[in-house]
Amino acid sequence: MSVGLRLLGLCIFLLKNVKTDQIGFEFQPFPVLKNDNLLRAARGEVVDRVPVWVMRQAGRYLPEFQELRKLHDFFTVCRTPELACEVTMQPLRRFDLDASIIFSDILVIPQALGLTVEMHAGVGPVLPQPIVVPEDLKRLTPDGALSRLSYVGDAITMMRHKLEGRVPLIGFTGAPWTLMGYMIEGGGSKTMSKAKAWLNEHPEDSKLFLNLLTDAIVDYLEMQVKAGAQMLQVFESSAEHLSKEQFLEWGVPYLKRIRDELVDRLTKKAIPVVPMTLFAKGAGHSLKEQSELGYDVIGLDWTVDPLEARNLVGPNITLQGNLDPQDMYRDPEELRNLTTEMVHKFGKSRYIANLGHGITPQTPITSMEVLVEAVHKAL
Ligand SMILES: *[C@@H]1O[C@H](CO)[C@@H](O)[C@H](O)[C@H]1NC(C)=O
Ligand SMILES: *[C@@H]1O[C@H](CO)[C@@H](O)[C@H](O)[C@H]1NC(C)=O
Repeated sequence: MSVGLRLLGLCIFLLKNVKTDQIGFEFQPFPVLKNDNLLRAARGEVVDRVPVWVMRQAGRYLPEFQELRKLHDFFTVCRTPELACEVTMQPLRRFDLDASIIFSDILVIPQALGLTVEMHAGVGPVLPQPIVVPEDLKRLTPDGALSRLSYVGDAITMMRHKLEGRVPLIGFTGAPWTLMGYMIEGGGSKTMSKAKAWLNEHPEDSKLFLNLLTDAIVDYLEMQVKAGAQMLQVFESSAEHLSKEQFLEWGVPYLKRIRDELVDRLTKKAIPVVPMTLFAKGAGHSLKEQSELGYDVIGLDWTVDPLEARNLVGPNITLQGNLDPQDMYRDPEELRNLTTEMVHKFGKSRYIANLGHGITPQTPITSMEVLVEAVHKAL
C-alpha cells in the first residue's frame, strides 16, 4: 500500500472516531453516551431526571418480541448477536427508557458448563440432566466455559454501536446460589427443596459447587465489561428460598467474592470499573449486610419499604426498584399515583426506578408508557 493511501486510511480512521469514549474489547471506540443518568445515579451524582428501566423490558409483553420468537427459539435469539440486539432494542423504540439491558438468560452459564438447557413454552427452562449427586459435579466443564459464552460479548459490543450512545448498556449474570438451584432442580422450582437439601446434606460439595460457579461468573462479567457493558447486575433471584441465616452463609460470601475479584482484576488491567447492582429477591431481611459487599446499587423487591431500606443501607448506596409488577395491571391513574408516591419516597438522589421483579407477559403496553412518564414527571 502506498504511503498516500495509508495516510488517507489514518485520516478516515481519526475522523470516524474523533468523538468517542470507552474502549471496548476489540479496542474499537464506542459512540459517546448522551443520557448517562443511570450511571450518575449509580455513582451518587446529580441526575437530570430519575432514571428508569424495567427488568425483562425486552420480553413477552411486547408483540414484536412475540413475533420474533415465532421465528427463532429462545436460545437462538440469545446466541445470535443480531437477534439479541434487535430484541434488546425493541423496548427502546417504544419507551423513553434510561437504560438498555442485553437480551440473554442467567442459564447461559450452566449451558457453558456443559448442561443442556431447553426453554419449554409455558413451563420455562428445563435442564433434562440436572446435577443430582455430588459425583455429578464431575460432568461440569469449567475449562473453556468462557469461550463458549463469547456470543454474549459479541452481542454487547454490537449493541453498544447500535445504541449510538442513547442510553447505557447493562450486562448481567445469575448469582451462584440461584444458578446452583436451577442446576440441581432441573429448572425452576416453587420450593428449591432439592437444592436446599444439598446445603444440609453436602455442605462441602455445596461450597465447591458455589465456588466453581463464582469463578465462572467473575470470568463472564470481566468479559462483558471488556465487550462494552457499562453497568452490571447480579440476579440472586432465588434468595427468596433461603432464611436470613442461610442467605448469609450460602449467598453473601460468593456475592462478595464476585464484586471483590472483578474489581481487582479490572483494576490490575487498568480497565475502568463499572457500577454493579445486586438484586437479591426476597432478601429484604439482609439489606444492611448487602450494603456492605461493595455493590453500588441494591435492587429491592416490592415487599420492602423504600424509607426502611434507605435507613438500613445508609446514604452511600443507590437503591433500585421496586413497584409490584402486579401494579402494572391497575388503571392508568392508579398506576400513575402509585409510581409517583414510590418516586417521592425514594427521592431524586441515589435512586433508579424499576419494578420489584420482571415485568409479566400480559402487562398492557400503556402501563409501561404510564410508568416511564410518571417516573420522569414525579420530581
Ligand atoms: C458516605 O460517604 C461520605 C463521602 O465519601 C463519607 O464522608 C461518609 O462517612 C459516608 N457515610 C457512611 C454512613 O458511610
Ligand atoms: C390520584 O392522585 C390524585 C392527586 O393526588 C387524586 O386526586 C386521585 O383521586 C388519585 N386517583 C386514584 C385512582 O387514586
